[in-house]
Amino acid sequence: MKKRLTNTVLVLAVLATATASARTLAEIKKSGTIIIATEGAFKPFNYFEGKKLTGFEVDLGEAVAKELGVKVRWVTQPFDSLLIGLNQGRYDFVIASHGITPERAKAVNFTNPHYCTGGAIVAQKGGAQKAADLAGKSVAVQVGSTYAENVRKLSGLKDVKTYPKDSDAQQALMAGRVDAWVSDKFVGLEAAQAAGGRMQVGDLLFQEKIAMAVQKENSTLLKGLNDALAAVQKNGTYGKLSTQYFKQNVACK
Ligand code: ARG
Repeated sequence: MKKRLTNTVLVLAVLATATASARTLAEIKKSGTIIIATEGAFKPFNYFEGKKLTGFEVDLGEAVAKELGVKVRWVTQPFDSLLIGLNQGRYDFVIASHGITPERAKAVNFTNPHYCTGGAIVAQKGGAQKAADLAGKSVAVQVGSTYAENVRKLSGLKDVKTYPKDSDAQQALMAGRVDAWVSDKFVGLEAAQAAGGRMQVGDLLFQEKIAMAVQKENSTLLKGLNDALAAVQKNGTYGKLSTQYFKQNVACK
């Protein structure tokens, strides 16, 4: 009940703000610049290296814009306000590792997925590995994420602690304030590697398809992004970026 209420409130909030109309693909092309929003705190997908915004999704966003023949202006926003800002017309599309969910699909339109992944259980060495191990445990997740949504479906947890940023949830695990962190498996693997054996990535709790989001009625941009994504997959750019960041192809099979 609580979960359903939270989701309903989110959808209402996103729908209620769907006032500013989107720029069509033709308008974007005419202006010469596409405005893309992401979070900038979800390594290796979108993050800052010093002052430079980078990551797989940032490079992919640039590649897609190149296909469309436009420059990019990046906007960074807290994760849980990205889809709301999209419907306020503050940017043209969002690329921030959003899993395609029925709730979100009521408020925005998703492109074809740009990668496939899952939510994994991450713990300190020797800690929880399977869903059953989470019984009686305290689990950290990012607010508004599919990790939060899926962890709440488990029964018998001690508690679920939500954090504004996924990296805050990771810090909570590192500091021992929680027993486990549920995040993207690639984010978890990167963090575990950086922690030099102090962290482990366990089972996937669920799988998801990740896509870019445009405003509901923006069919011209939706088609433009799908065509551009297909083109960068065909011309080898996608494969090159995927290997660079993950040493494997993360495209959906
Ligand atoms: N894939 C998860 C979701 O759809 C988490 C995404 C988190 N993204 C981010 N930029 N922090 O909710």
